[in-house]
Amino acid sequence: AIDAEIAKYPQKRGALLAALHLVQKQQGWIAPEAASALAEIFEIRPIEVMEVVTFYNMFSDQPQGRHQVRVCTNLPCSLRGARQLVHELEKHLGIEAGETTADGRITLGHEECLGACAWAPMMRIDETYYEDLDAEKARQILDALE
Ligand code: FES
Repeated sequence: AIDAEIAKYPQKRGALLAALHLVQKQQGWIAPEAASALAEIFEIRPIEVMEVVTFYNMFSDQPQGRHQVRVCTNLPCSLRGARQLVHELEKHLGIEAGETTADGRITLGHEECLGACAWAPMMRIDETYYEDLDAEKARQILDALE
């Protein structure tokens, strides 16, 4: 799959983001071993791979839960209660934003604007948006996750 991405670009390095998406999706995070393997493929240093990983919030350099729960806390969502919603979910899950539940089910975090401001507050769980939330609705959604 990485070779197919590389073939789309005039310079191999242009496919690094696509390759990181593939690894993130398959493994759930970018482990040091994966960064080294990508560095070898792209003929760059592992630190250069990690510079990209740590710049974009869609990549993680730590193991993640089975579900990525990200509450948008940009201004429009915050004006509609997103920060309080994060606190409610922290209490409900017994973790703080940035942490993963002990059973490995959920990693909770913040998200930048996802372009759904009209339905604030909203959260993204993996690839799905949940909008116009309140604490009770959000708790029910999290409780239904396997
Ligand atoms: Fe939350 Fe735009 S500010 S979706």
